[in-house]
Amino acid sequence: MTTGSKPGARKRVGVLISGRGSNMQSLVRASREDENAGYDIVAVISNRPDAAGLIWAAEQGIATVVVDHKAYPAREAFEDSLHEALVTADVELVACAGFMRIMTDTFVTRWHDRMLNIHPSLLPMFKGLDTHARALAAGMRITGCTIHIVRPELDAGPILGQAAVAVDTGDTPDTLAEKVIRAEHVLYPEILKLYALGQIRADGDKITIDSKINQQGILFSPSI
Ligand code: GRF
Repeated sequence: MTTGSKPGARKRVGVLISGRGSNMQSLVRASREDENAGYDIVAVISNRPDAAGLIWAAEQGIATVVVDHKAYPAREAFEDSLHEALVTADVELVACAGFMRIMTDTFVTRWHDRMLNIHPSLLPMFKGLDTHARALAAGMRITGCTIHIVRPELDAGPILGQAAVAVDTGDTPDTLAEKVIRAEHVLYPEILKLYALGQIRADGDKITIDSKINQQGILFSPSI
């Protein structure tokens, strides 16, 4: 299905977005600033024609595609087009970044171990929406974000990396969202790099991290 990419070549990554695409921007910037990033963002695909991130990506000279879910009678037909767009762009890895569509098992299986997602909580806590309000309501003193491999179950799948931020008294869902998104912008490029380089791998549902990697170095945590 994908490309026979040469060993050592940078992986071709397609980013799926639905909105502003700030995580997508952080991935693009990191790939361009780091010659050892191990990946290039070759396509940005949105299910919403009005996603602001599309404009930014196009200005950066990145191929953009709209696969408008509303134009399809069924989820399967929408996903066939999405898959086609990814294959046409010769994508090897998919990075979901604020992509607000639930995917069928069939689509997820097609991209098994080749599709990552970012979620704004420390999974497995607070799957789904409104994560920051729920973290506050639960009285959490710490929250954060998670990068995981996509599996059919929503917001599940092997966890590749997490970043934590402190919850301060007085935080609101909005202030927490601001802190967590800053952590997301650091974590996603770092974890995608390690995954693209094969330095973090999935072995079934278990994650293996290269012994060369300083695991403390990829832990992101609040200042004490
Ligand atoms: C992020 O908080 C991400 O974790 C969640 O949706 C938000 C997307 O933000 N899945 P952006 O579009 O990347 O700015």
